[in-house]
Amino acid sequence: MGQVTMTVNGKTVSGTVEDRTLLSTFIRENLALTGTHVGCDTSQCGACLVHVDGKAVKSCTMLAAQANGGAVTTIEGVGTPAELHPVQKAFKENHGLQCGFCTPGMIMSAIDMINRLGPNLDEDTIRHELEGNICRCTGYHNIVKAIKQASEEMADVLEAAE
Ligand code: FES
Ligand code: FES
Repeated sequence: MGQVTMTVNGKTVSGTVEDRTLLSTFIRENLALTGTHVGCDTSQCGACLVHVDGKAVKSCTMLAAQANGGAVTTIEGVGTPAELHPVQKAFKENHGLQCGFCTPGMIMSAIDMINRLGPNLDEDTIRHELEGNICRCTGYHNIVKAIKQASEEMADVLEAAE
């Protein structure tokens, strides 16, 4: 057992965890942030994807202790119900979800790919980048459409940040 402290969605949080506690477990059970889903626990589905220090990470593949001192963003830290993030808005507008189980991971993955690869992503790039995210409802077509739209809409935001 040990103490971990990290920033999650801009707030400093601490907790006592076992050495083997996964970051996904810490987020869901200690912090009650259940938007981060666990679909496999074997690093295949991407439902648990969060950002750690600005990079996409499958939180079931990282120990909570490894995130000690880091800055974590979960889906709860993205947008607000009144002001959706452009990626969330595009998923809504393109019906990029069915049951919604994969959606938090898809959105965190999409934000990461747009941040890394820039705006105006093409379909092949989006499909390649989504290899680590599984949608069991198989709604990939609309997910890809949503990410493409968001990457176009975020061009202005990314250019302004340069
Ligand atoms: S729960 Fe982490 S990749 Fe599936
Ligand atoms: S919308 Fe159901 S798993 Fe993707």
